[in-house]
Amino acid sequence: MTDDFLCLGIETSCDETSAAIVRNGQEVLSNIVLSQAELHRAYGGVVPELACRAHTETLLPAIEEAFQKAAVQPKDLTAIAVTYRPGLIGALLVGLSTAKTLSFLLKRPLVGVDHLHGHIYANELSHPDLPYPNVHLLVSGGHTNLYLCEDPLLYRELGATRDDAAGEAFDKVASMLGLAYPGGPEIEKLSRQGDSSKIRFPRGTTGEGSLDFSFSGLKTAVLYHLRGQNARRSDGQSPRGRAPGKRKKAQEARRSLSQNPADIAASFQQAIVAVLVEKTMEAAQRYAIDAVTIGGGVASNGVLRDQIREACDRAGLKLYLPEKKYCTDNAAMIAGVAYHFWRAGLVDELTLDAVPTRR
Ligand code: KG4
Ligand code: ZN
Repeated sequence: MTDDFLCLGIETSCDETSAAIVRNGQEVLSNIVLSQAELHRAYGGVVPELACRAHTETLLPAIEEAFQKAAVQPKDLTAIAVTYRPGLIGALLVGLSTAKTLSFLLKRPLVGVDHLHGHIYANELSHPDLPYPNVHLLVSGGHTNLYLCEDPLLYRELGATRDDAAGEAFDKVASMLGLAYPGGPEIEKLSRQGDSSKIRFPRGTTGEGSLDFSFSGLKTAVLYHLRGQNARRSDGQSPRGRAPGKRKKAQEARRSLSQNPADIAASFQQAIVAVLVEKTMEAAQRYAIDAVTIGGGVASNGVLRDQIREACDRAGLKLYLPEKKYCTDNAAMIAGVAYHFWRAGLVDELTLDAVPTRR
């Protein structure tokens, strides 16, 4: 088996159309990412039908550009890798049918890749010396999971969100604040002008010792804060039916709550980051792992990166951060991990189906 593996990767699971050429799982020769964010912005989120149509229009040009930039010919390829799950079914099908067609025409093996596996692997693109085992925090728009990674192909879930994903919470709170989609980068930007200690939003708890996450309560707390409904009363009763003197007190308390959007954004961001960092540290400690990695769109958040760095330094753990361009959706991570599947003889038939869910 030759060890020069040139792979075309295709990623169309959500709202980024991406094609990349990666050599031997690590050397990224090209990574073209065409974002549809502008297209979906007016709707405040991804519109599946619009996403599929845009993928059909932009995927072939993205693939052509990936070949050009990498100075590679289709005949030079060893394999074609594609995200086949999870994601928007129509969007996945655009990428999968294109990959199958190329696989058939070029007579090259097809490697189906789980999108989350791609995110976990993205660290390898930035760190060729990534140590195993490591604890991985995956924080994207659809998932928030903790994994114990044994090698590039073997990982075990230690915890997951029970409701909203971290990115989803960023997007929903951004929308409450009237910020554009996708909300994560907008909240991060606005937070720079705010004070994260102004409002103490709840840190989602999921029971003692649990490595699961929960962000829906936090999201609701932000909503109530915006409505001015979380002025705490010293007697703990609901604000309804209060005595006239107490009403005045509650009104004053409400006024003292910051309604500055930048403070709200910064305080919300801090509440999410604190929980993500704390659970990741807890996982590393519990399984006696000394290396930590992160991935997914939210992993490009500067406050999360800074605070997980500080926590790892304090705990004497090694931290490996992927470059920001490999945090959000991209095809390089898909072509990268495919190398390990191919070496293990794990290639797919052309009957491979798109699967919208994880399992
Ligand atoms: O991994 P990704 O590109 O797509 C999914 O697989 O979901 O993640 C997208 C998510 C969105 O929710 C977006 O708001 C969030 O990642 N995100 C961020 C930042 N950049 C992207 N969240 C917080 N801070 C950021 N800088
Ligand atoms: Zn993703």
